[in-house]
Amino acid sequence: MSRFSFILQATDGAARTGRIDTPRGAIRTPAFMPVGTAATVKAMLPESVASTGADILLGNTYHLMLRPGAERVHALGGLHRFMNWDKPILTDSGGFQVMSLADLRKLDESGVTFRSHIDGSKHALSPERSMEIQRLLGSDIVMAFDECPALPADRDRLASSMHLSMRWARRSREAFGDRPGHALFGIQQGGLEHDLREESAAALREIGFEGYAIGGLAVGEGQEAMFGCLDHAPAMLPEDKPRYLMGVGKPDDIVGAVARGVDMMDCVLPSRSGRTGQAWTRRGQVNLRNARHADDPRPLDEACGCPACRGYSRAYLHHVTRSQEMIAGMLLTWHNLHYYQELMQGMRDAIAEGRFSEFEAAFHAARAEGDI
Ligand code: GUN
Ligand code: ZN
Repeated sequence: MSRFSFILQATDGAARTGRIDTPRGAIRTPAFMPVGTAATVKAMLPESVASTGADILLGNTYHLMLRPGAERVHALGGLHRFMNWDKPILTDSGGFQVMSLADLRKLDESGVTFRSHIDGSKHALSPERSMEIQRLLGSDIVMAFDECPALPADRDRLASSMHLSMRWARRSREAFGDRPGHALFGIQQGGLEHDLREESAAALREIGFEGYAIGGLAVGEGQEAMFGCLDHAPAMLPEDKPRYLMGVGKPDDIVGAVARGVDMMDCVLPSRSGRTGQAWTRRGQVNLRNARHADDPRPLDEACGCPACRGYSRAYLHHVTRSQEMIAGMLLTWHNLHYYQELMQGMRDAIAEGRFSEFEAAFHAARAEGDI
């Protein structure tokens, strides 16, 4: 019987590499999870996402409960079958998206009620309903239902929100039940307050989860403050379980997070920015809308093996971006996801070989040179 497990294979400083095994396949860590919010990584076929090296996708309770509905997805065979992706899926629990997207939110001890940003219809989420939705979807890694306050927030607000999230974490654990092969991750909160992070971590460890997320970061605090928190937060969580930093980030955020002991991350950035003409390469960020590319016959990155870089010039990518052709979003998303996964593979190899500092130095040196 294949179950959910995590093995740590090597460490280098605080950085770690390992593997999560699930009945739907292995997840190599550090892992980057592309975001497939509404049962699609926008502009990409699932097999193309897999070909970039992704072992796992992220889906969203909030979006899928509103459209097409969790019961409908379940009746159609679950999210994997529905979206034609048979590898692992992690689903976020909904509270975070309610707070950023929904209208007329009302939060109390039991959960949150809100109106859909799509059609104004009324809905409710609670730890129990979030667990039920994530089970109906067939998620492999289920996230506890939490509340994430926007930063900056005062200490009292951060403390009471964290305490609520810890009570919800316990209810999530109880509602999740015993589901071999599926995992429930707790989410640490506490903003930038060190002692609140400690208290949150202790509460989560006491409940016991298959993995632990660091929530409440990348919400406007800036990289320096986030790294300040990550200098301590990962070590508060169990060493023998995966640590997932939610909603991060830019390539340099990711490298810095891995250096500080994070094993998993997700972000819309590579896919979303690909649809607005932004590319990420070894040399940093490139805006394909810029007129300097109009006559450039060179590829976006001559060292990249993705379809966008093997088959097309910067001039072409500029043209299709400017003329808003669908292929622009397809090619740039593919390139960005390919770049992110290559970055993750580079870090996994460097950690395994005990040369992560050299990897980090080379990463920053290439970016300092700037785009060609
Ligand atoms: N995505 C980014 N940050 C968070 C967080 O703090 N909680 C949840 N549930 N999702 C997130
Ligand atoms: Zn490329």
